[in-house]
Amino acid sequence: MDDAELDLLLRNERYPRSGGYSGRWMVDGGMGPNPVWQAEALAECMRLEPGMRVLDMGCGTALSSIFLAKEFGVEVWATDLWVKPDENLRRVVEAQVEDLIHPIHAEAHTLPFAEEFFDALISIGAYHYFGTDDLYLGYYSRFVKRGGQLGISQPGLAEEYEALPPPHLAPYWKWDFCAWHSPDWWRRHWEKTGLVTVEVADRLPDGWRDWLQWNEACDQDSGTPGREEAQMLQADAGQTLGLTRLTAHRNP
Ligand SMILES: C[S@@+](CC[C@H](N)C(=O)[O-])C[C@H]1O[C@@H](n2cnc3c(N)ncnc32)[C@H](O)[C@@H]1O
Repeated sequence: MDDAELDLLLRNERYPRSGGYSGRWMVDGGMGPNPVWQAEALAECMRLEPGMRVLDMGCGTALSSIFLAKEFGVEVWATDLWVKPDENLRRVVEAQVEDLIHPIHAEAHTLPFAEEFFDALISIGAYHYFGTDDLYLGYYSRFVKRGGQLGISQPGLAEEYEALPPPHLAPYWKWDFCAWHSPDWWRRHWEKTGLVTVEVADRLPDGWRDWLQWNEACDQDSGTPGREEAQMLQADAGQTLGLTRLTAHRNP
């Protein structure tokens, strides 16, 4: 597929800022539902200002880091485990934001940062890999200033089920989807610690459509494993699956 055709498939009016980035760039760096759209949706609920220090935790190929730096002028520590910082630095240099982005290789439980260093902690498509442990927020939140912001966005469910999978999703279910949770689950998971106050806990409006559009575009472009997930999203039609968004601030 040529790049113009891909741009057309990825046109999404809900994300005007993301429309300024090439579809090929997004698909080449893709590791899950489009992180650039998710970053734009998260930023709608956060206050991001030039010069702020932002942790992009589990940034993968740093697409969200590049987007946030370019769109909001924030300084980003693009931190990931699987994708090495030299690869991300190449992407950052190509995007001409090397003065604003610091690629870091780190595991989520051994972060090489000073306490209260960041103005905001952001995590897209990643927090559910390490953040479902009841005690993790106590570790993670120490890196943001008191009163500072936290935001996450990742695949999730509309509600919690007694038993998994929900019957209509059984043909597609993989065991690790058990880490996908509802907005209410995440709100309670964070607020029960008393460490943060949640401001937004919702399903991204039309998040399932965004996710499906993304997977279909990736599939049509290169036949990536997006097809099975697309079938699952089509079968569900937004009943259960979507993207869960949560924002909060650290209590004083
Ligand atoms: C599905 S990818 C999403 C990447 C990117 N944020 C995106 O949305 O495209 C999940 C990312 O979480 C990161 N990750 C998972 N477990 C981690 C851990 N224990 N410590 C640090 N990063 C982790 C991986 O390195 C991976 O890049």
